[in-house]
Amino acid sequence: MTDLNILGISGSLRAGSFNTALLRNAQKHAPAGMTVSRYEGLADLPHYNQDLDNEESRPESVTRLRQAVADADGLLIASPEYNYSIPGGLKDLLDWASRPAADSVLRHKHVAVMSSSPGAFGGVRGLLSLRQMLLATHSHVVAKPEVMVFGVAQRFDDGGNVTDEMTINLLRELLSALHDQIRG
Ligand SMILES: Cc1cc2nc3c(=O)[nH]c(=O)nc-3n(C[C@H](O)[C@H](O)[C@H](O)COP(=O)(O)O)c2cc1C
Repeated sequence: MTDLNILGISGSLRAGSFNTALLRNAQKHAPAGMTVSRYEGLADLPHYNQDLDNEESRPESVTRLRQAVADADGLLIASPEYNYSIPGGLKDLLDWASRPAADSVLRHKHVAVMSSSPGAFGGVRGLLSLRQMLLATHSHVVAKPEVMVFGVAQRFDDGGNVTDEMTINLLRELLSALHDQIRG
């Protein structure tokens, strides 16, 4: 059986992003039978504009995004919380991927989500907001474990490797749950 192909999406554009670093660690700790790649086109996506969402005007970056999501067996989204919600760039990504509504690449897609923050709440309000959006897109979101990494700045070594066992175990458990959900 071929490996499940999971597309990792970070909600942060920051070069030193903790969420992107968590995704890199998820690639390292993925269970057998699963390969995690990373979507790197977030900065190229324009704001969602329905006037551009047609065959003649659709930006190349949107076509590439939709193809990458369509090709993946599942998604792993890691996002910061911005002002109690998700960053605008990730919202635009989800809006582009969510159309056409009846037949979008997010429909019935299996999605694992996690958040992190240097603060004490781990971005949980942003994570709940992300889960809410994925209800609208008819995606199949992994229910448990709920992964919100608080105090994230303290959990890496200088090489960007997660050092604490609890976070590594949560990454493994989340990906295993995604694996099992996809394989049914
Ligand atoms: C515009 C903005 C809004 C933010 N709002 C929140 C917030 O509501 N809750 C929170 O825990 N952190 C908030 N932060 C701090 C982020 O959690 C922190 O910058 C984090 O490192 C961003 O994730 P990243 O490291 O993946 O880029 C905010 C940061 C920015 C720039």
